[in-house]
Amino acid sequence: MNLIGQRLGQYEVLARFGEGGMATVFRAKQDKVGREVAIKVMAPALAQREVFAQRFEREAKLIAQLSHPHIVKLFDYGTLRGFHMRLIDPTFDPKTDIFYFVMELMLGGSLASRLHKARFTPQETSHVLRQIAPALDYAHEQGIIHRDLKPANVLFDDHQNAFLTDFGIAKLMEEDAGQNALTQEGTTLGTPSYMSPELWQGENIGSWTDIYALGIMVFEMLTGKLPFVAGTPFRVMHMHLFDPPPALQKYDATLPARLEPVLQRVLAKDPKDRYPTAVAFAEAFDAALQAAPVQGTASPTPDPHGKPTAAKNETSPQSAASADATRWLLIGLAVALALSLIVVVVLLSSRS
Ligand SMILES: Nc1ncnc2c1ncn2[C@@H]1O[C@H](COP(=O)(O)OP(=O)(O)OP(=O)(O)O)[C@@H](O)[C@H]1O
Ligand SMILES: [Mg+2]
Repeated sequence: MNLIGQRLGQYEVLARFGEGGMATVFRAKQDKVGREVAIKVMAPALAQREVFAQRFEREAKLIAQLSHPHIVKLFDYGTLRGFHMRLIDPTFDPKTDIFYFVMELMLGGSLASRLHKARFTPQETSHVLRQIAPALDYAHEQGIIHRDLKPANVLFDDHQNAFLTDFGIAKLMEEDAGQNALTQEGTTLGTPSYMSPELWQGENIGSWTDIYALGIMVFEMLTGKLPFVAGTPFRVMHMHLFDPPPALQKYDATLPARLEPVLQRVLAKDPKDRYPTAVAFAEAFDAALQAAPVQGTASPTPDPHGKPTAAKNETSPQSAASADATRWLLIGLAVALALSLIVVVVLLSSRS
């Protein structure tokens, strides 16, 4: 769908930003107020359905209510009839309507694109977390669950501030898919790598589901890797349901060991065992960063080569001391044994 140079209502489409699973995003200009905006055009195949129009309207109104300094603002939304689109593009199906959201423009790229380049230090991770955690709690207080929280849905402005986006879209698409929701991978289920056990099971979805996805994102920011990776979505599901998340220090021994229990808790299988709010998670994260190093903590001078070291290779002061004691005991026993042997040999030789 080429909308560049075209008008969508009062917006002139300037350029294409990119495409996700369900929509294409364009940069556009709103002439009346002279500002640039982002326009998210929903995929026409989905938009064809009759009932979609009502759901779109309902969700858009809900999302427009969200007003938080770290949530991408929804300015406007609209529909363009297929016959109108056909005037622009003769190949366009006249029975297909176009649904679009007009949003605040974010020029700093997404967290996903940043993670492709480099991972985040714990301090950088904390900076992002302190911005988006209150935004997530705010949406939850308004009764809105994101359901598809992932690095592609965290955008940055040109001052390095992080914003959550795409609230309500996953729900809109899930309802659109109806009974086939579980079979339409990628569009309705969310994104496998970030899906909590309860989301895989399709029950008891709530704020805790987003908090789990936030935990996966933080794991990825710190290590540059996802905790659960497998060749098929089924294997990924199995890991989310049954496997404990790997230790952060398996990826980087210089990461503070105190972060370990914080990540384990936010990624708990049972929602009741997770942090009750995103801010509680962010606070625990910061407290762990500020705390003095404890057993297994990386040394204050990190490995200059930055090479990941397996956690089992690390030794705490206590375990080093006990290893020393064992070593001396063994040496003592060996010396005693050698002396006894010498005595036996001397005795035997003196008898003969
Ligand atoms: N408000 C915005 N300002 C600037 N760029 C945006 C904005 N919203 C989305 N984009 C960019 O547009 C592209 C498509 O975004 P979209 O949300 O459709 O897909 P996605 O989040 O990558 O994937 P999915 O469809 O699975 O959610 C991405 O590159 C995204 O960074
Ligand atoms: Mg998105």
